[in-house]
Amino acid sequence: MTNSADMAGKVVLITGASRGIGAEAARAFAAAGAKVALVARGAEAIADLAGEIGPQAVAIPCDISRYWEVEQAVAACQQAHGGLDVLVNNAGVIEPVAHMAEADPDAWGQVIDINLKGVFHGMRAALPVMLAQGHGTVLTIGSGAAHAPVEAWSHYCASKAGALMLTRMAHEEYGERGIRAISLSPGTVATQMQREIKASGINPVSRLDWSDHIPPEWVARTLVWMCGAEAAGFLGDEISLRDPGIRRQVGLA
Ligand SMILES: NC(=O)c1ccc[n+]([C@@H]2O[C@H](COP(=O)([O-])OP(=O)(O)OC[C@H]3O[C@@H](n4cnc5c(N)ncnc54)[C@H](OP(=O)(O)O)[C@@H]3O)[C@@H](O)[C@H]2O)c1
Repeated sequence: MTNSADMAGKVVLITGASRGIGAEAARAFAAAGAKVALVARGAEAIADLAGEIGPQAVAIPCDISRYWEVEQAVAACQQAHGGLDVLVNNAGVIEPVAHMAEADPDAWGQVIDINLKGVFHGMRAALPVMLAQGHGTVLTIGSGAAHAPVEAWSHYCASKAGALMLTRMAHEEYGERGIRAISLSPGTVATQMQREIKASGINPVSRLDWSDHIPPEWVARTLVWMCGAEAAGFLGDEISLRDPGIRRQVGLA
């Protein structure tokens, strides 16, 4: 595995670690020597994954749409692993897919609560810890949907555009105080989210072939790479995994 980042003994908290990209990220960071804190609502799934990874993993059930739960999760991570070096804001949802004139306003808002406010909650809870120690890395899973409208994804596009601005904000406010904030736009990835998109049958993304998606392991390896010095040129910015140059640098196919 390509791993320019020295993760030995580092503490990494990953939201949305119960499956998909987050679960693979947990495995990749642990394989690189990090201690990992697995955050998701699905308590059983993260407990199973912690069991698979071993003593360097702790499962912390948490709904990131509630700030107090995120604050408690960061405290539990510090207690279990003695610190927090890297936050991976990965948790996100796409459902319910709906056109704007028909979308249920409460369900639309719940997506914002997870995809946008959840990212803010992670940063708000982690930044004081990171600023106090003088360093920290905040990686956030972005999306091409932050940059272009996609039919029936107004909630998702708006939330990802906002989340990208939060990365820029963290860099603006704290880049000079040791905080490394970077967004990662992965392209389409073979996870449960793409199954839900396919089932919706609404826009061109739903009509992609399964073989068009990259494996979540590629995203996980890129996240580890982003903790190293080679990603320094992207601070406060977004990395796209569609970029062949980035794939080469990370050591992907
Ligand atoms: N798959 C793609 O093609 C693609 C492309 C671009 C960006 N992304 C982004 O990549 C990230 C990961 O998605 P994925 O593809 O791995 O999807 P996934 O397999 O559906 O996983 C989503 C994860 O988010 C967690 N989650 C959802 N709501 C949560 C909440 N309120 N609190 C805590 N955890 C929550 C889920 O766990 P629980 O349900 O157990 O809480 C699950 O672990 C998302 O931000 C997504 O927008 C994905």
